[in-house]
Amino acid sequence: MAGRIPQAFLDDLLERVDIVEVIDRRVKLKRTGKNYSARCPFHEEKTPSFSVNPDKQFYYCFGCGAGGNALGFIMDYENLDFPRAVETLAGSAGLQVPREEDRVGRDNTEREQSHRALYGLMEQASRYYRQQLRQHPEASRAITYLKQRGLTGEIAKQFDLGFAPPGWNNLHTALGNTPAQQTLLKDSGMLVENESGKLYDRFRDRVVFPIRDQRGRVVAFGGRVLGDDKPKYLNSPETDIFHKGRELYGLYQARQANRKLERLLVVEGYMDVIALAQHGINYATATLGTATSKTHLERIYRLCPEVVFCFDGDEAGRKAAVRAMEAALPCMEDGRQARFLFLPEGEDPDTMVRSAGAEHFEQLVRGAMPLEHFLFESVAQGLDTDSMDGKARLSKLALPYLRQLPEGVYRQLMFQALARRTGLELASLMQLEPAPPAPPPEPQYAGTMPQGREPEAGRPQPRRREASPSRNSGYSNMAQAAIALLLHQPAIARQVETAPLAELEGDDVDLLRELLALLHRRPESSTSMLLGHWYGTPEGELLSRLAGQERLIPKEGIEQQFVDTMSALARAPYLSKLAAQVDKLKHTNYAEVSELEKQRLRELLQEKQRRDSNSQKPK
Ligand code: UTP
Ligand code: MN
Repeated sequence: MAGRIPQAFLDDLLERVDIVEVIDRRVKLKRTGKNYSARCPFHEEKTPSFSVNPDKQFYYCFGCGAGGNALGFIMDYENLDFPRAVETLAGSAGLQVPREEDRVGRDNTEREQSHRALYGLMEQASRYYRQQLRQHPEASRAITYLKQRGLTGEIAKQFDLGFAPPGWNNLHTALGNTPAQQTLLKDSGMLVENESGKLYDRFRDRVVFPIRDQRGRVVAFGGRVLGDDKPKYLNSPETDIFHKGRELYGLYQARQANRKLERLLVVEGYMDVIALAQHGINYATATLGTATSKTHLERIYRLCPEVVFCFDGDEAGRKAAVRAMEAALPCMEDGRQARFLFLPEGEDPDTMVRSAGAEHFEQLVRGAMPLEHFLFESVAQGLDTDSMDGKARLSKLALPYLRQLPEGVYRQLMFQALARRTGLELASLMQLEPAPPAPPPEPQYAGTMPQGREPEAGRPQPRRREASPSRNSGYSNMAQAAIALLLHQPAIARQVETAPLAELEGDDVDLLRELLALLHRRPESSTSMLLGHWYGTPEGELLSRLAGQERLIPKEGIEQQFVDTMSALARAPYLSKLAAQVDKLKHTNYAEVSELEKQRLRELLQEKQRRDSNSQKPK
């Protein structure tokens, strides 16, 4: 296969061509104010809602949400894959497309270099904690705790369990002997900085679980209290080398135990993974306090064909199962399977395997409910599926799910099953389906690869042009506002750092972070280059939509508004945590408030003050 197309060439190409010309040659455009418009070539319409912005070099349809830069237009309009579209566009500009060998490979090495120090530090920390579990005078408490949970020394070794001793600066003292090490300790989230700039250990008096990535490198830690204190678990924050939405606890160990995995279990907790392994069930992984994502599943399906999700049998468990199902549907290519295991209420895999034994547990796994049963069962809930009305509703509820399935035999079978259940003709059900989305561009070219994402995670598959249900988080609106401002004027990215966003979660915050990282790396990027980076992904759809929004703010106000939005974002989680803590204390007798809670409140207040005062002075 030909080599990759260098990013610099793509940028150059987009600079040289004029999107108005490119589109006008294919679809006649009419000038309307400073933009151009036409009837959208991607959907049927009577009045033009397709608009082309010559300043920012992108198009957007307010009717169907299609949007992107000149390259994206050619791909969609002429139905070409990415390299062909580049060639077409380059040809019209009289340019030869250069090829470069293994460009992504080189990028990776560079990134690895810069992360090597962080990986090294995490390994040192892990070694330190392991040592403390063997040597620290207080370690017997941790050992007693682990034994009482049924774990042997062997399994503790297999998972490299460690002990973070009590005290505020053990790790700091052990590893932070140079300024460079201190910076690393902070960047890795192992040390936390308080108001007066003093650093202290994040993990104190806890059993610690190193979290390894697929290659076995320690990227983060989880820590559990030895008793009933709160919070029960602490986790490392998101860092350059740790992304919760991607990692699975125990996956590395599962692969070590068996290279030819038949299936993987997805459970909720660290202790579930370890307890199962203790009983010889070496194929469990846990998400890290987040819902199972599509990224998680793609990672799993690359290693084995079957996933069994384990949930609590209660209401919360059912809800989590529905979310897991939603993440799984788009991954269900032929040959893959997903099943659901609901444990009796109040049980988790840890308690279950300890009380009932491995054999019984594996029997439950074998009997887990297949995705198709679970899907139809959950949409049929509360419906009388014998009545006409019930059948109509069933198809209405099930169709949006079935449409998420990728093309293939499984999808066909699911439609047939729906037809059977509703008595509707298969043909008419299929007719209710909207047209399939444009084919995804090839993932292996540099220009299509959103920077900053792991190449092995690949390019997310484009979804249909519908609002994605999982975008929401508490800060989603603010993050989207910031993204819209950035798209409007990419140069404002230099006004802010990404660090203050570190503790926020959510798809939109992630996207904002990636956008900022990209702009910091390549400050000259234009709106259309940004759209190009995410072209064909769900993120790309969102970006096009946001870029398509008319801005009412005068040009001069954009920068200030952006800085304000970012600092509001950075403060948001502290304010809500603080409010929650204060609320809790209101209902408690002060004498009963634990030292830990008081300390937590002090930390939050200090953090808030620090952030408030920082936000007064834009960088
Ligand atoms: P659970 O509360 O179900 O705990 O949390 P568990 O795994 O059964 O814990 P044990 O058995 O009491 O030790 C499930 C997962 O949710 C995250 C952790 O990843 C945990 O493994 N979690 C839970 C937190 O991050 N923080 C918490 O305070 C609690
Ligand atoms: Mn448990």
